[in-house]
Amino acid sequence: MVVLKLVLDAFLLAVATTAQQIPLNGEQPNEKWTQFHHPIRRVAVIGAGPAGLQAAAKLIEHNFEVRLFDRSPSPGGNWFYTDETPVREPYPDKPVNEVPDVPQQLPAVHYYKDGEDGISLEDRWKEHWQPRPLWDSLHTNSPAVITELPGVPYSAAQPWVLSNHVIQAHVRAYASLHNLNANDDTNVTSYATRAESLEKIKETQTWRLTLRKLERIPEIKSIKATWWTEEFDAIVSATGPYVAPHVPTIDGIDNWSRAIRDDDGYSIYHSQSYRRPQRYQNKTILIVGASVSASEIARDIAPFTKTLYTSIRVSSHIFHDKLLTNSQPHAKLSPFQLRSRLRFPEIATVVPEIKSFEPLVDHKKGIKDGKIHLVNGSVLTGIDEIILATGYIRSKTFGPNLTADGQPEDLHWTGHWIPDPTLAFTNVRSWTIGKYQSYAFAKVWEGTAHLPPQWEMQKDYDDRKYQFRGLFSSPQAEALFRQYVAWLNNESLENGGRFVEPWPLENREIFAYYSEVEWIKGYTGLRNFTDFENLPQSEWPSGHAAAWESIVFEEEGW
Ligand SMILES: Cc1cc2nc3c(=O)[nH]c(=O)nc-3n(C[C@H](O)[C@H](O)[C@H](O)COP(=O)(O)OP(=O)(O)OC[C@H]3O[C@@H](n4cnc5c(N)ncnc54)[C@H](O)[C@@H]3O)c2cc1C
Ligand SMILES: NC(=O)c1ccc[n+]([C@@H]2O[C@H](COP(=O)([O-])OP(=O)(O)OC[C@H]3O[C@@H](n4cnc5c(N)ncnc54)[C@H](OP(=O)(O)O)[C@@H]3O)[C@@H](O)[C@H]2O)c1
Ligand SMILES: *[C@@H]1O[C@H](CO)[C@@H](O)[C@H](O)[C@H]1NC(C)=O
Ligand SMILES: *[C@@H]1O[C@H](CO)[C@@H](O)[C@H](O)[C@H]1NC(C)=O
Ligand SMILES: *[C@@H]1O[C@H](CO)[C@@H](O)[C@H](O)[C@H]1NC(C)=O
Ligand SMILES: *[C@@H]1O[C@H](CO)[C@@H](O)[C@H](O)[C@H]1NC(C)=O
Ligand SMILES: *[C@@H]1O[C@H](CO)[C@@H](O)[C@H](O)[C@H]1NC(C)=O
Ligand SMILES: *[C@@H]1O[C@H](CO)[C@@H](O)[C@H](O)[C@H]1NC(C)=O
Ligand SMILES: *[C@@H]1O[C@H](CO)[C@@H](O)[C@H](O)[C@H]1NC(C)=O
Repeated sequence: MVVLKLVLDAFLLAVATTAQQIPLNGEQPNEKWTQFHHPIRRVAVIGAGPAGLQAAAKLIEHNFEVRLFDRSPSPGGNWFYTDETPVREPYPDKPVNEVPDVPQQLPAVHYYKDGEDGISLEDRWKEHWQPRPLWDSLHTNSPAVITELPGVPYSAAQPWVLSNHVIQAHVRAYASLHNLNANDDTNVTSYATRAESLEKIKETQTWRLTLRKLERIPEIKSIKATWWTEEFDAIVSATGPYVAPHVPTIDGIDNWSRAIRDDDGYSIYHSQSYRRPQRYQNKTILIVGASVSASEIARDIAPFTKTLYTSIRVSSHIFHDKLLTNSQPHAKLSPFQLRSRLRFPEIATVVPEIKSFEPLVDHKKGIKDGKIHLVNGSVLTGIDEIILATGYIRSKTFGPNLTADGQPEDLHWTGHWIPDPTLAFTNVRSWTIGKYQSYAFAKVWEGTAHLPPQWEMQKDYDDRKYQFRGLFSSPQAEALFRQYVAWLNNESLENGGRFVEPWPLENREIFAYYSEVEWIKGYTGLRNFTDFENLPQSEWPSGHAAAWESIVFEEEGW
């Protein structure tokens, strides 16, 4: 098959050129707000998780012509649990800018055969939609009141901590309520469809989205791939915070990554592939990492393992000690990471960070005889399997570059991309602030809410005025809640539209109580629930350092 490697930089260049040729409206002194080249009618939403589903539903309610795409065969985003596991993670991490190959002539159809390019049909399918990093017993580390979509409440009997299977059904119910499920109107939704690239067309000032849909055709033992393009006036990128697994860079890990166990699996694998504990019976397991995946998988497998080690690096130890002895917790540690420290099972032996893996001679015999050098000089051996609970990285999405923290650059606090606000990102906690953000997308693009002129948005961004930076890690949720409510209602008063209500007080109460019990005793007492009123905007903190400044802790990725 002839393929053309699309270079994303070419796209970025195209956008940059466009932005220069079309004068930014805001640069005209008498423009009071950002205006669009033409009325916005057709909008694509990429991603059908909690964020994208809400955006699509809101845009449909506001009479936009919406297309919703997701690479996965069902709605649910991160919460679509399957026993199917993802294709093996690369060792080391892949560069974040990698762009998929697309045929030169579009539309195009190709029937993949088993083993084509050395890839099995099963792997081809899994690579396309990427099964989710959930395990069977996974429960939330957030209480139900802040993990709920509007209009499909959990039953009153539901415990605060939810099983992933409950959330999965919940998100599907939301999709069905809005006719966005996989068996609903395929004029609107297209599942098993991955957005491959995005470019702005200069002449029409529209976005061209290149898509690839896969269909499994077992009768002829093949997978049908279809590529095509569609054009849109505006785009919502709702591709989620955990795009790719992260593998740590440790000497020798590449060599060890090829070791095969007796039962044919790899001896080292990322926590994204963990599903069930039973097969850990009588095994000696090493878990790497100190956060939620590490502690929860450790708890799950502990009743089965013969010996369980967890490798926690020094920085994490320091956090740990500080947290246990001091009410001034280390700023870098999020509350749920703290909760993890306290949840490691007692039988787990904590060992220091891994310095290196001594190269294996025979990879067919697994890693049991291999030597793991720890930073304190000790050597660990006799391990059957290693689970890397070392977190996730965001890979490059469409449009903006990513900041050092892996977040799209130049976003207005509403999620609109400042250089071209017809592209927007869902960059708030989807379960809570997501409903306001979705409404804002609809209002801005229908003209019942105005964004400041582009120069002003850029200046605010550059001045770090709104350093929510999309709230990827800045938890000033209370500030953002209030900002959304005040702004949306003011715009509706001026330009028409429904009013929104603030987040219910009882939810705040429940959340405060949950945080006391689950995270740290006195958590809410550490903070002043009225601090927000006294907080000058210039002091709204940013980044992880702000975690403990928040009144209601929020993080987009959680
Ligand atoms: C193991 C784990 C446990 C978690 N536990 C909790 C928890 O207890 N509580 C909590 O609040 N949060 C938790 N989270 C965070 C979780 O990400 C959020 O709850 C929520 O799912 C985020 O919603 P979203 O819609 O922004 O992104 P997602 O749910 O990730 O949805 C993004 C969607 O975009 C699609 N997509 C991505 N790229 C493309 C493309 N190129 N083309 C088409 N579609 C694409 C994906 O297929 C996916 O369906 C957890 C995350 C992980 C990994
Ligand atoms: N509901 C649930 O039960 C549940 C379960 C799993 C995940 N989640 C959510 O999913 C998200 C991701 O969680 P996660 O635990 O997978 O990832 P994570 O929070 O990013 O944690 C990654 C861990 O890996 C460690 N690490 C990274 N590189 C390392 C190295 N070279 N050596 C040793 N340790 C290394 C980090 O150490 P440092 O601490 O030193 O940086 C950190 O402890 C979070 O939002 C979490 O809340 C929820
Ligand atoms: C999809 O669009 C086609 C063409 O406009 C129309 O005939 C069909 O009824 C639509 N399908 C649904 C389910 O609305
Ligand atoms: C556990 O493993 C040991 C050595 O690996 C083996 O001798 C023993 O029979 C195993 N026990 C069970 C119950 O599988
Ligand atoms: C290194 O750490 C391990 C696990 O905590 C411990 O058993 C061992 O004694 C330490 N070795 C040295 C040399 O300090
Ligand atoms: C691992 O390292 C050993 C020793 O250098 C070498 O013999 C072996 O070929 C390496 N294996 C792989 C798969 O890289
Ligand atoms: C992305 O970063 C590169 C290198 O810093 C820069 O040249 C380019 O203009 C940036 N693109 C966008 C869209 O910001
Ligand atoms: C409300 O909207 C008007 C008109 O756009 C604007 O002048 C005013 O500053 C806004 N007020 C707030 C609080 O945003
Ligand atoms: C809470 O805020 C009040 C008023 O700003 C202040 O006097 C008090 O010291 C604060 N309490 C804490 C625990 O920070």
